[in-house]
Amino acid sequence: MAVSVISIVLVSVTWINLRDTAVERVLDRVLMASGQFSLQAREILDRPGLLDPGGLQRELEAFAAARSPHHDSSFNQMGRFVYARIYDTGARRIARVSDSSYEHIAVVNQRMGDAALRIPQPGQKQHRVFRLDGMPLISVVAPLTSSKDEVVAYLEGVFAVSEAAMAAARMDTLKTVACVIAIVLATTLVLYPVIINLLGRLARTSRSLLDSHMETLNVLGSAIAKRDSDTDAHNYRVTIIAVKLGEAFGLTAREMRALIKGAFLHDVGKIGISDSILHKPGPLDSDEYSVMKTHVNKGLEIISRSRWLKDAMDVVGGHHEKVDGSGYPNGRSGTDTPVSARIFAIADVFDALTSKRPYKEPLSYEETLAILEKGRGTHFDAELLDLFEKMAPNFYKRLANREDLQLKERLGDIAHKYFMDDMETILSRKATGVDRRRRWSKGRKRQNHPGTSSPPGE
Ligand SMILES: [Fe+2]
Repeated sequence: MAVSVISIVLVSVTWINLRDTAVERVLDRVLMASGQFSLQAREILDRPGLLDPGGLQRELEAFAAARSPHHDSSFNQMGRFVYARIYDTGARRIARVSDSSYEHIAVVNQRMGDAALRIPQPGQKQHRVFRLDGMPLISVVAPLTSSKDEVVAYLEGVFAVSEAAMAAARMDTLKTVACVIAIVLATTLVLYPVIINLLGRLARTSRSLLDSHMETLNVLGSAIAKRDSDTDAHNYRVTIIAVKLGEAFGLTAREMRALIKGAFLHDVGKIGISDSILHKPGPLDSDEYSVMKTHVNKGLEIISRSRWLKDAMDVVGGHHEKVDGSGYPNGRSGTDTPVSARIFAIADVFDALTSKRPYKEPLSYEETLAILEKGRGTHFDAELLDLFEKMAPNFYKRLANREDLQLKERLGDIAHKYFMDDMETILSRKATGVDRRRRWSKGRKRQNHPGTSSPPGE
């Protein structure tokens, strides 16, 4: 595609350039011929007041005859003057000839008769090009000078470019255009593999970097999840639910990536909460609860140290905010809390209510929905809750209280979709389907984090 565009642009520029060059080439010869007339008629031009118009008429006729088709010269192969006139510096016509053998001479005569006599000004174009029956004619005005190099009159001629000159110009143009296309194609053939190779290397390096980032995400998220509850299944479930809700809401791919990171690391700050509070069997007192609430800011502090994790801050910092402003740590209300955090808050509470914990049994679907409804407009965003409730039966059926390995596989597919697909597309450009499957098998054996599960559909 890019090659086609470059070729079209170059060919167009070349075509226009060559067309102008062909006109310029003829124009130079025509101007040179006009200059010769000054020499030819110098004796008359030197007479004060141009007192011999008859002499100038004769000189003009001789000039035109010498450049007629009957004279075989390189000039005449380019075309011939079909009309010429001389006028003085006061725009008074002195002499005129026109070639009656030229098939369009009546049109030329009328056109030139209607046209005002032109006195060229400095910087002004000396020629005009017009076409009759598809063939170009060049009308040119040249000054006629005396031996003292003073402009005493002007010669205006209309030069009809010959078929042979046009054919030669067309052939030159075609040859040059063919050369341009050949150069573009040859350059492309040489550079394309180099660019693809460099792109592949860059993608492999980026993929390796991304693998490291995903491992960091997995290690951090799993570390705090296991410390909190001996299992990281909550992290997997709650991230899957948040992703599905985010997709239904219409988050962009960039927002989805931030949501995935934030969901998986939402409670990473609990690493900094003492065991006596984190694992206390009974309810927390108000001091202990105040300490527990610091896990949000501790989490923000932890992820702020990684540039790659910074976009997780919306969820980590906002997952305990409530839409009525009664949440923590900042008491933000409504849309002051980022949408990703409002999405996650619903997913987090739904999963907590439907899960078995050491201190409680899982609630039924109906009990869970009733609690969520109680929080409509106070804890939860009403619009998001409406959307969530349409999807809730499916979440309850497929995810509630599950801890099996398939959760990890499902989150792996999600992470692959949002973090790896672009990279895989670049990497697989040169790979066959078999190569890609081999690389995936290798990747799955080597790693065990959300970003390296099987590709969707496999
Ligand atoms: Fe939390």
